[in-house]
Amino acid sequence: MILTDEEKAMRDGAEGPAVAAAMDLLIRYGEALDAQRLCDTRNVAGTTTQPSPVKAKLVAEGGWHKAFAVLNLDSDAELEIPDMRVPTCQLQQGFGPDSAGIAPYPQEFVELQTDAEAFYGRRGVNILATCTPYQVGNLPVRGEHCAWMESSAVVYCNSVIGARTNCEGGASTGAASLTGKIPCWGNHLPENRFGTHLIHVDEGVRDFQDWGMLGYFAGGLVQDERPVVTGEFAHPDLVDLKHFGAAAASSGGVELYHLPGITPEAPTVEAAFRGRMPDAIHYGQKERLAVYETLNNQGSSTDVDFVLLGCPHASVDQIRAAAKALDGKRLHDGTQLWIMVPRALKAVADRSGYTAVIEAAGGKLLADSCPAMSRAAPPGTKVFATDSAKQAHYLPAILGIEAWFGSLEDCVDAAVTGRWRGELT
Ligand code: F3S
Repeated sequence: MILTDEEKAMRDGAEGPAVAAAMDLLIRYGEALDAQRLCDTRNVAGTTTQPSPVKAKLVAEGGWHKAFAVLNLDSDAELEIPDMRVPTCQLQQGFGPDSAGIAPYPQEFVELQTDAEAFYGRRGVNILATCTPYQVGNLPVRGEHCAWMESSAVVYCNSVIGARTNCEGGASTGAASLTGKIPCWGNHLPENRFGTHLIHVDEGVRDFQDWGMLGYFAGGLVQDERPVVTGEFAHPDLVDLKHFGAAAASSGGVELYHLPGITPEAPTVEAAFRGRMPDAIHYGQKERLAVYETLNNQGSSTDVDFVLLGCPHASVDQIRAAAKALDGKRLHDGTQLWIMVPRALKAVADRSGYTAVIEAAGGKLLADSCPAMSRAAPPGTKVFATDSAKQAHYLPAILGIEAWFGSLEDCVDAAVTGRWRGELT
């Protein structure tokens, strides 16, 4: 790999041993990927505060410096971790202290995470604590090189914002935050950002639920390649695209898609493909029904004891819509409803009165995490319902529970009646 003089100096210890270890890791990582060089990045999104048994053991042995050295720099050396060199944010983590009595999450993890927030916050990690950093202040510009984790955030960053990131891990984001560098390969290179598959929507994409189902179809079709979607659909908003990308990254490994005329790198279909246009694969009522049936073949009992909204973390408008749907209603005895939100947006929901309406109905707003990340649902949950294709995809396997997938209205109906009565309309 070709290194600049600045990168060689970092590697050789000019900025201290922790930065040298970070640069050594990035060089090894880049060479394994056959990257020719490193990119400069000023935007890192990682998961340093996320609790785990391994992290707890390392902290007990040598404090947070040791935990970061081992888990984020792949180093057994005794290192003093300096301030982050470039802006870095924390993505989702475990549930926090305010989840006590709601989410069954180990107290020792809550304490570990609170300690981690203090350590990393002092070193320049912005504790956004959400899988949607783009909703709460981390909004890169088009073309900017980033080092992000979290598949739903990565696909949004690449596709909707037009910034550039691969799906990084804990080690590479840790090393990037201390150096401002990341191997320049994959999605960082313009030649890897053109479409590979053309999906033509014939009909049936009107709302949030539809965008999730279309994303699930697209991911299943293209796996980790790059779909371009054209045809007849209602103009999507941030929330629709958040759902579309998260679903495509769940059924497949999509990190980048284009909607010609809507997403920034595809002014036209031709531009999205750079001239090499494949035959279109059609998405219509038959495909839509097949996706719906796939997402709903994980439920047999219609007795719903848990309803989950907000995956990826809800926008303010989604919280408001849930409050409106729940206004004046009361959850069924034995059924719980959680809405996952970024903590910064919970403050907005609190001030706007949405939280009070949701809580009056018996629902809860929970920040920082989600049942999949914290592996925690209300005790005794056997059957859950969600409006998120991603949670319907993952949570049955993670928690061994049954799932129903539908619209916000279906989910609120299930929360209020305790029964799943959703149907595809
Ligand atoms: Fe976010 Fe959890 Fe979904 S981290 S994308 S709410 S699985």
